[in-house]
Parts: sequence; structure tokens; C-alpha cells
Amino acid sequence: MIKMNFENLIEKEIDEKRQGEALKITNNGDSPKKMYLESYGCQMNFSDSEIVASILTKEGFSTTSNIEEADLVFVNTCSIREKAEQTVRNRLKVYNTIKKKQNPGMIVGVLGCMAERLKEKFLEEEQLVDIVVGPDAYRDLPNLIKQVDDGRKAVNVILSKEETYAEINPVRLGGNGVTAFVSITRGCDNMCTFCVVPFTRGRERSRNPESIVAECKQLVADGYKEVTLLGQNVDSYLWFGGGPKKAFKSLSKKEQKESVNFAQLMEMVAKVSPELRIRFSTSNPQDMTNDVLHVMAKYENICNYIHLPVQSGNNRVLEMMNRGYTREEYLDRIESIKNIMPDCAISMDMISGFCTETDDEHKDTLDLMKKVKFDFGYMFKYSERPNTPAQKKWEDDVSEELKQKRLAEVIDLQMQHSLNRNEATIGKEYEILIEGESKKSKDKLFGRTKQNKVVVVDKANHKFGDYVNVLIEDCTAATLIGKAI
Ligand code: 5AD
Ligand code: SF4
Repeated sequence: MIKMNFENLIEKEIDEKRQGEALKITNNGDSPKKMYLESYGCQMNFSDSEIVASILTKEGFSTTSNIEEADLVFVNTCSIREKAEQTVRNRLKVYNTIKKKQNPGMIVGVLGCMAERLKEKFLEEEQLVDIVVGPDAYRDLPNLIKQVDDGRKAVNVILSKEETYAEINPVRLGGNGVTAFVSITRGCDNMCTFCVVPFTRGRERSRNPESIVAECKQLVADGYKEVTLLGQNVDSYLWFGGGPKKAFKSLSKKEQKESVNFAQLMEMVAKVSPELRIRFSTSNPQDMTNDVLHVMAKYENICNYIHLPVQSGNNRVLEMMNRGYTREEYLDRIESIKNIMPDCAISMDMISGFCTETDDEHKDTLDLMKKVKFDFGYMFKYSERPNTPAQKKWEDDVSEELKQKRLAEVIDLQMQHSLNRNEATIGKEYEILIEGESKKSKDKLFGRTKQNKVVVVDKANHKFGDYVNVLIEDCTAATLIGKAI
């Protein structure tokens, strides 16, 4: 029973992190056209939806949270696992019903990773869909909408080696006015064998640091208190004038001198304002340098929290996954983090039941978890994705039952660790940033510590965006209960 609750809780956390919401911005009055925008998947998709909203508001569109009155309905999609795609397919069925019964004129567009993966096939498979747009083609949306207005279906899934939407000022959607995402890289070159992302988001490229700093300054001016720097692999951020990723070593002397790496970028952002908290996601063990850790330790406003996906605790499986590090190297990174920042929280992603994974190899995963004792984890069953290297090379041969059993063991262990790690905070004091109302009680607010732990406190006179010092009095595996001091 407890296990089930925790599983639900983890699913819920993921859903909350990843599930989209319809969003409202003021109608500028000039245009009768209204768009409704829904996002699924990773934080990058949410950030992209804000870019889409920006591009289309410039064209005179306004957004609505009421799908029934929308002229344009966009769904930003995720392909990372079969289940994510299924969620989108189910939403399309709902749109279909709405279109038939309440809103016959609505145009439906599919954005993001599923659009990129399925391309024109989407139009065949889902009659309802009018527009298919990949993650690098959002600037073309106004033209694509015109095409549909002229009675044709429209597709643009061209991936770019340069596009970073650098100068587009995102329209902040559905947020709390306190925390915002700022994208710093796009795409991924890592080619983990299980992952569809390199195919749906293309080559890795870094965004101009000046535009990143300018966006953060604007956020501070608008009252925001926290930014999360986003990328599939933030630690490999390297600005040398634009274009697809290159190794530092392959740059000319001049380019090397003028280049900006992730540690340097973080320092630039940390200096924007001491009142602005900085987070980042996602890190890859093989790219995270000690320089990054030292910058984190140096600046009070860089949060002591690292999401460091591991995926497996076994070397043979890691090799098959093409992760680029061994179990020992991963543990070495964890050592460095703990040495340089003893109070840093660490979370992970883990995949259970990858092709050919044996029971002993699964036990290595549990063993690695026991060594690290992660504060939190996002844990998944392996889901075979079409056309990935793993799908092409190996059979998805761990049975569904076994995947489920192994995942449950991973989740159980993580629940214990999360609880232990949270219990260790009881009696200690933390500064939290208030982000919103507690979901369980209207009399309470929630905020997060620098270690990314959610703390619930009495409302008192605190407002969203306040920094509040709290004493932790109690906890569950997911939440800390605090008292303002
Ligand atoms: N099956 C299961 N989980 C996956 N992830 C990525 N691809 C797959 C897949 N095919 C997980 C990884 C990654 C996270 C974003 O999603 O753990 O870190
Ligand atoms: Fe996928 Fe690996 Fe890139 Fe993450 S690092 S997006 S898991 S290919």
C-alpha cells in the first residue's frame, strides 16, 4: 500500500512537472484570432511554448484558456516514452470531440518532439491535425497558419544547426511570477542509445550568453526571483560565436579566448542580482566539471542542487546505453560534489529493464543507489523508441512483468532514501523562496529550499516571491513541514 502511494506520488510529481496547462494572456483587441496552447513533456517544452506564444502574439494572436472559443489549438508534444505519446493521442481524441460538437472551425497544430518524429505521417494518422511543426521551425508558424487558412495542411519539421531563438523574448505563460525557465542550449549530441531526443531536437547548439543575461535581467526587472537554465546537457554549454557544438580543443586560439563555458555562464547569470536564485537542468556526469562545482559553491544565489541522471548502476548496461561514463566515474563525480558542496542535494533519473539487463545488473543499480542515497529520483521502465540505436540493435527482451518488478524495487528504495534525507533536515534552518499556495491547504504556502526540497509553511503575511527563513519540524518522503522563524 505504501509502495503504491509512493508510486502514485512519483507519477504525480512527474505529471505536475511535465503536464501542460492552458494559458491566458490579455487579448490585445486587434485580432479576433485566439490560440489555446497545451504543453506536455520536459521543461524545455514549456519554455518552447513560451517562445511560440511570443512569436504568435507578435502576429496579433491572443491566447485563451477556453479551448471551445479557440481558433487555433496547439499541443506541444513529448516522445520520450510510449506513454507520453499515448497521452497526446488521447488529448487529440478529446480535441476531436470538441471540434465536432462545439468548435467546428478550430485549427489543430502539433508542435514538439512527436511532430518531429512522425512528420507528415501525423497528418495521415490523425485526420484532425492541420499543422505539424518541429522544435526548430516555430518562426515559420505564421506562414504555416496562412497555408491552413488557404485550405492546405502545413508541415515544417526542418531541424536547424543554428536556431536558438536567442533574441525572442518569451511570453511567460501560466507561471507564478516567481520562477522562470531560460533555455541556454538546444538539441543533444550524446546519442544515448535509448533516447529519441537527438532525433527530435537535433544537433546541440549553445545560445549567445549576452541574450541569456539580458533575459535574466528582464526577469529580475519583472519581479522574478528564480531562473532555471535549461538544456538537454547544460554542462556542455560552449559559446564560441554560434553554430553546432564543437569541442573546446577544436576551437582556434582566438575562439578559445572569447568562448564562454557553462561555469563562466553561470557566473555571469549569478552576478545579475543576488536576489535571483539560479538553478539548472540537466547535467551529464561526463561533462560536469569541478569548475562548475566551484562556481556553485562560490555564489550564494546558485542553488545547491544537481539533477544528475545515472540511468543504471552497471557498467555493461551503461556501455550499451552509450552513456560515456562508468559506474566508478559516476560515483567519483558524486564524491566531488559532496566534497565541494557538502550540503548539495542530488537527484537522478533511472531506467529499469533496459535490453538484456540481468537480475545481477539490476542489483548493481540498487547498490549504486545505496552508495549515493539520492534526495530524489525520476524512475522509469525502459520504453523502446522507434529508430533509436537500441531499437535497431537489440531486442526489448526484459518482460513487462520483470520491468515492473525492478522498477518497484528501485522506487521502494528511493522512497526510503528520500525519507531518510528529508528526516535529516528536521531541526535545521533553511531559506525558502515562496512559490505558491499549498495544494492541500488554503491556509498554507509552499516554497523550496536551495536544495530543491518543497517546504510547506503557514501563510501568515508571506507573499509569493518572498524569501522566508524556516525551521523544519516534520517531513514525509516528498515534503518538509516548516515554521517561519
Ligand atoms: N525509456 C525510458 N526512459 C527514458 N528516458 C529517456 N528515454 C527513455 C526511454 N526510451 C528517461 C531517462 C532520461 C529522462 C528524461 O527520461 O531517464 O534521463
Ligand atoms: Fe537523451 Fe542522453 Fe541526450 Fe539526455 S543526454 S537527451 S538521455 S541522448
